[in-house]
Amino acid sequence: MTEHKGTPLTFEDRYDQAVAELEKAMKGYLTPRESAIPETLRKAMYYSLQAGGKRLRPVMCLLACEACGGEDIVAMPAAAALEMVHTYSLIHDDLPAMDDDDLRRGQPTNHKVFGDAMAILAGDALLTFAFHLLALHVQYDNVVRQLVVELANASGAAGMISGQAQDILSEGVDGDLDTVNSIHTHKTAMMFQAATRMGAISARADQAKVDMLGDYGIKLGLAFQIVDDLLDVTSSAEAMGKKTQKDQQAGKLTYPAVVGIEQARQHANDLIEQAVAAIKPIGQAAKSLIELAQKVNQRNK
Ligand code: IPE
Ligand code: IPE
Ligand code: MG
Ligand code: MG
Ligand code: MG
Repeated sequence: MTEHKGTPLTFEDRYDQAVAELEKAMKGYLTPRESAIPETLRKAMYYSLQAGGKRLRPVMCLLACEACGGEDIVAMPAAAALEMVHTYSLIHDDLPAMDDDDLRRGQPTNHKVFGDAMAILAGDALLTFAFHLLALHVQYDNVVRQLVVELANASGAAGMISGQAQDILSEGVDGDLDTVNSIHTHKTAMMFQAATRMGAISARADQAKVDMLGDYGIKLGLAFQIVDDLLDVTSSAEAMGKKTQKDQQAGKLTYPAVVGIEQARQHANDLIEQAVAAIKPIGQAAKSLIELAQKVNQRNK
């Protein structure tokens, strides 16, 4: 169990601690390069990075590292890289040519403030820097190589970008559950899988643990995207920090659109159970990840 001055941390305190460490680390990795980045571009990059967000993927990475006996510091480059790729993906997802959204993380979207061109470039820069920082800050070369493979696979043309392409190509099209599952797997769950696998790899865990934690990640990611689809129907912009009631209007192929709200809810519950079951063999060291899975299911933002 994580301890702080001898007292075990509650889950909430552990989560907040991980977020604080991550935010400090991201700033630390970027600061030495700041002076070489044009001011407007730098502002656009920081605007979205510092807008907050749940920091779920990096926290999962740090908790997976902890589940394998590693200190947060060893998984910090992986955690920061995941959040930078995720933040870039949101900036691009919100562009007029994609989902055309004007609210994100409780603030106007990047392109609303900096214009489309600078938003595209801020996204490009964050994506590139994610891989740069892995190469610069991960201690062991073989770990760098494995982390790059995981992150490139999960975020690239056979991962998140594949999902984003399928999402766009399915707009206004009658789709089935297999298609929705494929969209969700690629656009969201593979990054969740990479998060836990990268945490375990950073801790230099054995293959069995990397795979177990990866299974947890993919199931949790699938549940997370179903809940995102559900919240688009049932929640508000005030709660979410982004516009809701948009998916149906945009003709998105979502879980509630295909199977209805009740079945979507049920499926998310089943996936959470499967996620928790996947890491059962790890025992007490994975306690925080089990709690995290329950929180993801009950989240309202
Ligand atoms: C939003 O992700 C994109 C989806 C995969 C649904 P998050 O809900 O994790 O966004 P932030 O990082 O908290 O803003
Ligand atoms: C986006 O999914 C997933 C990404 C890879 C960015 P959504 O389009 O449903 O995410 P939100 O609802 O805009 O956050
Ligand atoms: Mg989208
Ligand atoms: Mg969107
Ligand atoms: Mg959504």
